[in-house]
Amino acid sequence: MILPITAYGHPTLKKIASDIDKDYPNLKTIIDDMFETMYFSRGVGLAAPQVDLSIRLLVIDASPYVDDFPEAKDFKKVMINAHIIEESGEEWAFNEGCLSVPDIREDVLRKSKIRIQYCDENFNTYDEVYEGVCARIIQHEYDHLEGILFVERLASLKKMLLKRKLTEISKGNIKVDYRMKFPNQYRRKK
Ligand code: NI
Repeated sequence: MILPITAYGHPTLKKIASDIDKDYPNLKTIIDDMFETMYFSRGVGLAAPQVDLSIRLLVIDASPYVDDFPEAKDFKKVMINAHIIEESGEEWAFNEGCLSVPDIREDVLRKSKIRIQYCDENFNTYDEVYEGVCARIIQHEYDHLEGILFVERLASLKKMLLKRKLTEISKGNIKVDYRMKFPNQYRRKK
């Protein structure tokens, strides 16, 4: 099932997400629905807070990047209870976008290498190091688990210039070809 994606300003996007255990209700369905939602809206990653669940779960499929980044090959992941242990390496700029912040793309600086601990959908645990575009996608999705959006990582002048556009997004004054869930205070009367 395709789920609506929480829009900029939605309270769930601002929360720090919680770890879960393997008895979390409907986990398999949630993971399937998140992949379906991600593919439908042509994203390369989706974090649970973007489907209004404040849990540490993210899904990734980097295959659209394969032509430009060889490391993206077969990089398809479910990460549960993800925790980045370390970030290292040089900062580099990459043009990011986010399904919760439609129509805005900006260069974001992040470190090139991460070490992350997580569980897969069967609750096997991993402790892995990623670099390049794989690290980048994880870092962007991981930020969602920490209540951070990529636009908050921009320089203050850039943020100021985007302010009006972000307000319009949170009010639902945007055209998107996937379903979104807007903050309550802006919910329009039927
Ligand atoms: Ni995002």
